[in-house]
Amino acid sequence: MVERKKESKVKKTAATETTGGERLQKVLAQAGVASRRQAEELITSGKVKVNGKVVSVLGTRVREKDRIEVEQMPVERETTLRYYLLNKPVGVISTARDERGRKKVLDLLENVPVRVYPAGRLDFDTSGLLLLTNDGELTYRLTHPRFGVEKTYIAGVTGEIDPQRLGRLRRGVMLEDGKTAPAKVRYLGTDPRRGLELLEITIHEGRNRQVRRMCQAVGLTVTTLKRTRFASLVLNREVASGEYRQLTAQEIQSLRQQVSL
Ligand code: URA
Repeated sequence: MVERKKESKVKKTAATETTGGERLQKVLAQAGVASRRQAEELITSGKVKVNGKVVSVLGTRVREKDRIEVEQMPVERETTLRYYLLNKPVGVISTARDERGRKKVLDLLENVPVRVYPAGRLDFDTSGLLLLTNDGELTYRLTHPRFGVEKTYIAGVTGEIDPQRLGRLRRGVMLEDGKTAPAKVRYLGTDPRRGLELLEITIHEGRNRQVRRMCQAVGLTVTTLKRTRFASLVLNREVASGEYRQLTAQEIQSLRQQVSL
């Protein structure tokens, strides 16, 4: 009886302990819910519950057995970080949810034992390299403009390729949401099968439909778009469209180094 009482006391205080367990924001980031900074915001804005009670104090520590919810959704705790490189096909959306019920990149993953999330997004009609992971902190850094992570695309375009247009793309073009940063642009030649001019474009911003809009702004229409590089990750032939593989330890280390982790 005495033992029971002691136990229930521990349970009640577990959510507000300051030693032992792990910091709540770290657990949320590891579960892939958000980056650590975003997790802090979720906590301070009262959106996180531990064992049914709102916890809004940063630094709260939680233990394995504590039940965590974010906005009424239970958080599955995952301590193993997983990283997958997917070759996204056209016609699949890269967000985790879609109100129109279209096929999602997460539907392509089989035998992946944990919930992972796309690091950034590719348009429905863009193909190529997409990183999927439950490492919230790495995702945050790879996608935050402050870290200036480079992304390379091969765009198949219609329109005339001339030095003026290439120069404008390289210097940055004015879009409705402001001027784009300078880009690296290489003309790769013509794809005679499809009658498209191929441009390799490297940018380090992540604005919505940026490559398509940049090309449009200089009079070129993008017909096909494929991402071939994301930070230090490169898409090669070994991963066919719609397939995926785990990153190697070296690839993970290199990604982390790039964003000072
Ligand atoms: N730029 C685009 O226009 N689309 C993408 O999917 C990615 C970059």
